[in-house]
Amino acid sequence: MDKIFPLSGKPIVVIGPMACEIEYIASRLDSPREVNFGGYHFTVGTVDDYPVIAARSLIGMVNSAVTTALAIREFDPAMSIIQGTAGGHDPERHKNDMILGERLVELGNFYTPHRDEGRRTRIEDWYTPGEEIMTDEGIRRFTTLFSDEELLEAAEETPYNAGKLVRGTIGSADLWNKEIDRIGYLHRIFESDAEEMEGFAVAQVCMEFGVPMIDIRIVSNSELYPEEVFSEDAGVICQEYVYRVIRHMIEKK
Ligand code: 5AD
Repeated sequence: MDKIFPLSGKPIVVIGPMACEIEYIASRLDSPREVNFGGYHFTVGTVDDYPVIAARSLIGMVNSAVTTALAIREFDPAMSIIQGTAGGHDPERHKNDMILGERLVELGNFYTPHRDEGRRTRIEDWYTPGEEIMTDEGIRRFTTLFSDEELLEAAEETPYNAGKLVRGTIGSADLWNKEIDRIGYLHRIFESDAEEMEGFAVAQVCMEFGVPMIDIRIVSNSELYPEEVFSEDAGVICQEYVYRVIRHMIEKK
């Protein structure tokens, strides 16, 4: 693939599911113009005279996949950034830690083996078939997708002080896990640092269209630590960091 930096002039699309995950960035765009497709809302503007689009995807895998596909078809972006809040899976991850999703896995894509009536469910026996993606070699199944290395490096070059800044594995599904045993199981199987509801879906669509992407997530809650409960300000802290990442990307040679 061609090098991303210096940027080609194509827009940066940044996606946030909830208001607390996109409104700050949208408010920082100069010359903003509002564009709607159905219920999907895009603010088209500039940062430092470079085109940037803030997309409010709404929560979940379908919403974020549709938002990504619309953004790619309508705006032909240089990249998409999915960002926002996430729940900790790794005991070493704490509230306000920032995770750069080097690896993206899906926590809701399972086939189960047959079990007779009354034999109870055993998540340990489930297996992950992977999602179908059309590649140059035909249809392939992927259980792991990756953020773009150049984008990961650009994010790492941007200082972050509200918590740790680490590369890691982010899991996605239309699921909010609060069962400690299940969180522990998913963490062991997938080596996940945190869970959210969009990253893998965005990565899947981006791979289909050959658009580089990165998933950037702040830990906003961890079931492993009762005092680390979700709060919307984590979404704003994440946006403030991602806004600085975007400015760094724009000036990067
Ligand atoms: N589990 C799942 N999703 C979470 N989110 C924040 N914390 C969690 C968690 N523990 C994010 C999702 C979704 C919204 C509900 O918040 O990505 O957009």
